[in-house]
Amino acid sequence: MIKIAVIGFGNIGGGLVELMERNKTLIARDCGCEVDIKYIVDIRDFTGHPLEKKIVKDFNTVLGDPEVSVVAEMIGGSHPAFDFSIAALRAGKHVVTSNKEVVANFGEVLLKTAAENNVAYLFEAAVGGAIPIIRPLRESLSSDNILAVNGILNGTTNYILTSMVFSGKSFDEALSEARALGYAEADPSADVDGIDTCRKICILSALAYGTIYPSELVPTEGIRNITPRDVSDAAGFGASVKLIANTRKTSDGKIMISVAPRFVPAENPLYNVRDVFNGILVSGEAVGDLMFYGRGAGRIPTAGAVLADIVEIIKHMDSKQLPPPVWVRGGSETLADAASEKSRFYCRVKGRRVPDNIISGKHIYSDGETSFVTVETDLAELEKQLAGYEVTARYRFI
Ligand code: HSE
Repeated sequence: MIKIAVIGFGNIGGGLVELMERNKTLIARDCGCEVDIKYIVDIRDFTGHPLEKKIVKDFNTVLGDPEVSVVAEMIGGSHPAFDFSIAALRAGKHVVTSNKEVVANFGEVLLKTAAENNVAYLFEAAVGGAIPIIRPLRESLSSDNILAVNGILNGTTNYILTSMVFSGKSFDEALSEARALGYAEADPSADVDGIDTCRKICILSALAYGTIYPSELVPTEGIRNITPRDVSDAAGFGASVKLIANTRKTSDGKIMISVAPRFVPAENPLYNVRDVFNGILVSGEAVGDLMFYGRGAGRIPTAGAVLADIVEIIKHMDSKQLPPPVWVRGGSETLADAASEKSRFYCRVKGRRVPDNIISGKHIYSDGETSFVTVETDLAELEKQLAGYEVTARYRFI
């Protein structure tokens, strides 16, 4: 019998407890032993709850109990999630988490501590919700040269953008729905301002290239400024607007990371990723393009990814755990300037005049503004060509 502790009895923690009960037989078959939740740690009051006997308020109860070998950190936020996780690893307990904030902010330290204590620190649910993306990058693709990762990594914003297009909902209506469905962060500005996406792409970038960059160094733009006109123009140009995270190695060996709304043309596999779904397009030198797709948020789908990590640990309990990846923390000196990326741009300007030198294909005139798509160019050239125009919107194509 393996005993685990769930720290945080909120949306995902509650989902994990529910799923472990629901899949008890499958888990026992897969692990070759029974797996029991010994403690649920939460500072809130759960008097009268059917699991009341398991619920404790003090994390030290878990830390001091040698019977608990796996800790599922489901608190969210940096503290005390980091403090509890590192204490558990130092106490020789395996830790799993869905907490992208703590992995993005402290991943290299937690992975090093896990290695020093011969335990695992797994975080499949931290990126892409239910999508298995961490394990493929760590294992299947570890000996390929990753050229780029492009992804829709936030379920809430994708849900909002899809609702604006297909249900004609307002931004606020769609956000309220995403919150009610349990997709959004406690503070949903982390979703809509791109912060959550940024943490996730920093984690994927670290898995691909070994260096974890602080989110603050990554140019990040959310979806607050997306208007119905942007969305309808995107359709007019055969594209859809998506919040896209990107990381890639540049020719001079630097890493470029960015988060911004982009126009995704219909031929790109990310074009049709809708609602709460996430899509992650990994380009490897040997394997070519791989597309990962699935539910990016939600109580049970995310809990499913956490459970997969728990089972993975238990299956290797008697042998060796997979060694944790080694990450170093990067600084701005090895980070490429995302503005230097060449791409096509969607632009909208006041009036009917358009910059003929960079325009490609048709333009759309409506309500006093003209929108068009440019040829591939860089930001400096674009700005030169748009001098003298009143620009009301500008987004890159993927
Ligand atoms: N708020 C996050 C999202 C939850 O919407 O994607 C999953 O990480």
